[in-house]
Amino acid sequence: MKKFSVVIAGGGSTFTPGIVMMMLENHERFPMRELVLYDNDEERQAKLGEALEILLKEQAPDLKFSYTTDPEEAFTDKDFCMAHIRVGKYAMREQDEKIPLRHGVIGQETCGPGGIAYGMRSITGMLEIIDHMEKYSPDCWMLNYSNPAAIVAEACRVLRPDAKVLNICDMPVGTLRRMSQIIDKKPEELEVRYFGLNHFGWWTSVKDKEGQEYIDQIREYVAENGYLTQVEVDKQHMDASWQETHKKARDVLAVNPRYLPNTYLKYYLYPDYEVAHSDPDHTRANEVMAGRENEVFTAARTIIEKGTAVDGGFHIDNHASFIVDLARAIAFNTHERMLMIVENNGAIANFPDDAMVEVPCIVGNDGPEPLAQGKIPSFEQALMFQQVTVEKLVVEAYIEGSYQKLWQALTLSKTVPSAQVAKDILDDLIEANKDFWPELQ
Ligand code: NAD
Ligand code: G6P
Ligand code: MN
Repeated sequence: MKKFSVVIAGGGSTFTPGIVMMMLENHERFPMRELVLYDNDEERQAKLGEALEILLKEQAPDLKFSYTTDPEEAFTDKDFCMAHIRVGKYAMREQDEKIPLRHGVIGQETCGPGGIAYGMRSITGMLEIIDHMEKYSPDCWMLNYSNPAAIVAEACRVLRPDAKVLNICDMPVGTLRRMSQIIDKKPEELEVRYFGLNHFGWWTSVKDKEGQEYIDQIREYVAENGYLTQVEVDKQHMDASWQETHKKARDVLAVNPRYLPNTYLKYYLYPDYEVAHSDPDHTRANEVMAGRENEVFTAARTIIEKGTAVDGGFHIDNHASFIVDLARAIAFNTHERMLMIVENNGAIANFPDDAMVEVPCIVGNDGPEPLAQGKIPSFEQALMFQQVTVEKLVVEAYIEGSYQKLWQALTLSKTVPSAQVAKDILDDLIEANKDFWPELQ
């Protein structure tokens, strides 16, 4: 079988060890000949790179492994780039969350003003790595899950329309696992219909392969418990704040019981509740820095000190195995059915063609083919149109360097109460992001 050469962009990510171990676990389905980590923060990446080098020598001695900050070294002779960069790292995520909260507005990584601020930073970093990939390995595919995926995907559509970039999110994957627990099935036995934008969508059907529909049974459960289940799906989404999010899906469902909601809709439908239950001095960024980031880098240090990864603290991120499914779909033309973020072009019949939407797709060696989801009701359509316009305005503001358009984007966000609050937040965000954003006029 063919063996693949892979670069992970954002090699210093908290998710890198888990994903590398997941790929090792899946080596029969997705054999690798080379793995390179690439990051623009040499020091951060080296901490994980050195530990992974020890681990890989023990567990996969035939795999050629390296880590580098040199784009040519990283991107030459590659079949796949798994991209999970965070431009501005956790220090800036903290700002994204805390600045809006100071103005009484949702402070979140990908939703509302925080997501907009992050988007304005991510576009630059994403264009950079796409250009490296196209320069050194023009046939390479990028499997991107860098956030905010909706804005990143729109920026790719406009600025790099021919690039082989696939944008994907793990939230629907994780929630489907919860649904499968609710009905006592395996997630791979289920097939869904879904429409929306990234972090902004609804399941309209959850069936098994025989065509048995389970949406009523799942709805009944979610109406009482949200997506809270007792079984550990993955470590990350078990934190107390994530449990609150799974639970809150109950209230999101109550507004619109027809379809099963993505958990992120709570930020748009219950912003007042979310703000009231946020601590402006301690947000999710603080939790992750003290939690996942600390654990991963402590484990790396221990592996390096001991000189062995046997009984080491890196854990397999099994829930990320959809990345291997996606790579296999491209590499082996498997026609896997997956939710992807793609240009609408009629998949949602009554929604603009040029919107980046999240819908089920059949993925083969030419990329994703969206499956038609038909017409959507006006409640969801109106919410989506408002949100997609925010995302488009952010990309336009980035390209044109337009203060006005970014102000409009913030004003239009359902999370922001007025143009004045939008302006106050924007002015603070500009100050905090001056090392990252293009200059706005
Ligand atoms: P992290 O800060 O730990 O890691 C990101 C790494 O990217 C850092 O080491 C940083 O130095 C590096 N980086 C930043 N800009 C870069 C650039 N221009 N070139 C190369 N490297 C660069 O972050 P994390 O929490 O591990 O998350 C990584 C990313 O994955 C984030 O964007 C996060 O939102 C995303 N994510 C997405 C999903 C999804 O569903 N789509 C799921 C989980 C995480
Ligand atoms: C989910 C989303 C990702 C997001 C992550 C944040 O997995 O799909 O897009 O980045 O949650 O999780 P965290 O643990 O970093 O708050
Ligand atoms: Mn996501």
